[in-house]
Amino acid sequence: MHDDIEKVLIDEEVIQKRLDLLAEKVTEEFRGESIVVVALLKGAILFMADLLRRVPLAMEIECLNVASYHGGTESSGEVSFLDRKLPDVSGKSVLLLDDILDTGRTLDAVMRKLKDQGAEEIKTCVLLTKDIERDITLEADFSGFTIGDEFVVGYGLDYQGKYRNLPYVGILKNSAI
Ligand code: XMP
Repeated sequence: MHDDIEKVLIDEEVIQKRLDLLAEKVTEEFRGESIVVVALLKGAILFMADLLRRVPLAMEIECLNVASYHGGTESSGEVSFLDRKLPDVSGKSVLLLDDILDTGRTLDAVMRKLKDQGAEEIKTCVLLTKDIERDITLEADFSGFTIGDEFVVGYGLDYQGKYRNLPYVGILKNSAI
């Protein structure tokens, strides 16, 4: 698996250090509140596990299964909700976690859905933000790192279902695509 990586963009130690800081900010933001964390599957699984164990607040953890990439390296632009039942967020403060803010369509669609479900407040937290022009005006409230416009894998991010378990974020070799 490591042999398919052209370049490590953000190594494991740097990610873990940054999570300490991100967790502090999240804790400060929601101090005294009871929150529902909604993590988007499957990309946010590693991020969720490492971040939340650093946040000493009362919380419920929910996962939402959404798809927007459908296996390639370009966002399809369509966001599908794959769960039959959505988490109960009515009247609650929500921390929405995702692996990456790219076009913003995913977070935008999920935020709308959660608002429709009656969420009182929604803050977004992503590991990565792509530094690109977006049609959708959306900035994450908390973001770990800003990266360029390149397709990345690892630390939850996949290519055709693989590489999510890499402990770092990297760029694939052309031969692996
Ligand atoms: P949007 O474009 O809706 O994208 O902000 C969010 C979702 O698309 C996936 N995504 C990526 N997956 N490498 C990946 O493996 C990437 O560079 C990448 N960019 C976007 C991801 O699932 C994210 O939740």
